[in-house]
Amino acid sequence: MKAMVTGAAGFVGSTLSAQLLADGHEVVGVDAFTPYYDVALKRENVRRLAGPAFRLVEDDLLTVDLDPLLADCDVVFHEAGQPGVRDSWGGDFATYLEANVRVTQRLLEAARRAPMLRRFVYASSSSVYGDAPAYPTTEEDRPSPVSPYGVTKLAAEHLCSLYASNFGLPTVSLRYFTVYGPRQRPDMAFTRFLTAAAEGRPIELYGSGEQIRDFTFVGDVVAANLLAASEDVPSGTVLNVAGGTNTSMLEVIDIINRLSGSPLALNRHPRSDGDVFRTGGDSSLARELLGWKPSVSIEEGLALHWEWVATRHA
Ligand code: UGA
Repeated sequence: MKAMVTGAAGFVGSTLSAQLLADGHEVVGVDAFTPYYDVALKRENVRRLAGPAFRLVEDDLLTVDLDPLLADCDVVFHEAGQPGVRDSWGGDFATYLEANVRVTQRLLEAARRAPMLRRFVYASSSSVYGDAPAYPTTEEDRPSPVSPYGVTKLAAEHLCSLYASNFGLPTVSLRYFTVYGPRQRPDMAFTRFLTAAAEGRPIELYGSGEQIRDFTFVGDVVAANLLAASEDVPSGTVLNVAGGTNTSMLEVIDIINRLSGSPLALNRHPRSDGDVFRTGGDSSLARELLGWKPSVSIEEGLALHWEWVATRHA
């Protein structure tokens, strides 16, 4: 397969690209290296992808000429986006609209013209649900985001389904539930907590710590992407990709304390705007249509994440 991976220098995009290359596929990675977090980390992520089967296109998806890049691609994995639930309020919203909505629409238009394209996989998000009406939440439950970020992820997901129903574009949207593991973004809770543990610093805890997340290991998310590209699923399908963990932040902190061998000190702060109290996804549809199920427990996944952080601090 020849795949375009957008956001190839990011956490999920680079991990997915590494797996595609290891499986013998060709990858065109597109990334704008935006400075949302330290660009040196993104450079480090792509450095390990270098080789004859990987082409890096350092450009902005809003302006780059997509047609020649997509001419011989058979799959697009659209992992690029402006992340960060907590930063999406206020003046920065325009960035979220451009990076999450306009870029997706532009890619979908180009995908319609791509002669060999057989699948367009979109990285959606559990944030589309907001405070969900039921747990575990199914794809049938009504999405109702509680952050501007979630609104943009949902809008782009609707665009994917719209291009599927109107033009038969073979889209599949995967709603990732809080992805973690080696190379997780530095603004996310696990990398922040594990780095604090490695450096002997206190952590910043927002809210009571009783908030629950359905954490999903990055290797499981990569596996879901590969299956979404290879399995025969109806165009426009939307699927939860959830680790099935149902774990509170206080439980996470307990596991980190055991891994690092010394208890983390907590600086407590009020809950941040747009932070949902709980996520929990029902992944039965992904199991039925893709044959996917999570395979890494929170204890195993956090141990691998800790190993990555600790090695960097050795
Ligand atoms: C994560 C990603 O950051 C989003 O990009 C993604 O869209 C979303 O998952 C998703 O599932 O769709 P979030 O669950 O907020 O969002 O991820 P974390 O940064 O791991 O935060 C988990 C919890 O820890 C939140 O309640 C957050 O407020 C809290 N937290 C975070 C802290 O208490 N301290 C921190 O330093 C960071």
